[in-house]
Amino acid sequence: MSQHYAGHLATLKQRSDAALARSGFDHLVIASGVEKYHFLDDRPYPFKPNPHFKHWLPLLQHPHGWIVHTPGRPPLLVYHQPDDYWHVPPSAPEGFWVEHFDIRIIREPAEALAHLPKTRAAVLGEADAALDGVVPNNPQALLDELHHQRGFKTAYELDRMRRAQRRAVKGHRVAEAAFRNGASELEIHRAYLEATGHGEFDLPYGNIIGLGAHAAVLHYQHQSPARPGRPLSLLIDAGAEVDGYAADITRSYAAHEGDFAELIAALDDEQLALCDLVRPGKDYRDLHLEGHLRLGSVLRNAGLVDMDPGSMVSEGVTSVFFPHGLGHLIGLQVHDVAGRHDALGREIPRPQGHPYLRLTRTLEPGMVVTIEPGLYFIPTLLAKLQAGPHAKAVDWDRIEALLPYGGIRIEDDVVCTEDAPENLTREAFAEV
Ligand code: GLY
Ligand code: MN
Repeated sequence: MSQHYAGHLATLKQRSDAALARSGFDHLVIASGVEKYHFLDDRPYPFKPNPHFKHWLPLLQHPHGWIVHTPGRPPLLVYHQPDDYWHVPPSAPEGFWVEHFDIRIIREPAEALAHLPKTRAAVLGEADAALDGVVPNNPQALLDELHHQRGFKTAYELDRMRRAQRRAVKGHRVAEAAFRNGASELEIHRAYLEATGHGEFDLPYGNIIGLGAHAAVLHYQHQSPARPGRPLSLLIDAGAEVDGYAADITRSYAAHEGDFAELIAALDDEQLALCDLVRPGKDYRDLHLEGHLRLGSVLRNAGLVDMDPGSMVSEGVTSVFFPHGLGHLIGLQVHDVAGRHDALGREIPRPQGHPYLRLTRTLEPGMVVTIEPGLYFIPTLLAKLQAGPHAKAVDWDRIEALLPYGGIRIEDDVVCTEDAPENLTREAFAEV
């Protein structure tokens, strides 16, 4: 591990040195951030660190921290360890990363000033992290470059992401079992937390757990305590984190054999075929469009829409059933940065008619992406289809019968390598 970490730091230093040189700064200064409070209240929100900070080291609950990188010197860590008897203060720095930093302990946030460069510094952070004399300036060109490079994971990062997958899959296993036992969304959620060892606030994103028709809501945000009278289907989109690196996994289950179960199996086949196309040189926009074409085949083969798949895509019919992007970059953030920009920050446009696609870059080794096609029965979108020119191609009785099942999404996290892709999620399911 420490070997991987040394390599990771060396990569970050190299990238930062080049970005500093290009943008005319001598120091990279990164604020971890400060706690934020509810309006007119003394209750803090859960703390989420500046992702640039957790890129350098796995400190996730350390507000008022700072990292200073000056080319040619060991990185400096300003470590806030207050004398606080209301809360548990951070313990003394420990772990595989400690030996790589020049660490300065401070008791008060303002003491950081004595350790931070005041001139020619690129300061990354939110405005509220400012100290008297060190104010975040977030130089855009430097951010564009660092964000773009964050798309390429180091061996340390891939190791963290593999662990996050295994953590999440433990939760997915018990969630499926709970569903098959008739559990409510809330009970499934609690079983997931228990199995992953996560609390509500350290998940990489809020669990999406939809039974029946709730599975048609893309980011369904509630967890109903009501047990389903007769379970039909479950869509669970739930992740996990290790050292600040996310997993993002979705599975769909049918309670019994039939049309819906067959659709899940058909989409699963197409999803696997799409995962296999995560290869160097592949434009992710083409992969997304290929996903639509394959969904068109699923709809036609299932007898739901009687149209040629190519026309279904060009006429927007597949978008009624699959109204989101095929996937996104993932890493320190679930929807990682720079999915639609080049290293100079120039936008890489989405295909016409696909407004939610989060990734438009061409794949290269080291990138980790999600592949998450969906097939949903969303009443408002179906109503538009029914009112439009292609209504006659649709078997509305079958659609009506599928509405109570909500929808399907199958999502894996996949590493683009020099040759065959590494499917982090399927490997974790095979292991756990
Ligand atoms: N897991 C939620 C999403 O990717 O949008
Ligand atoms: Mn996702």
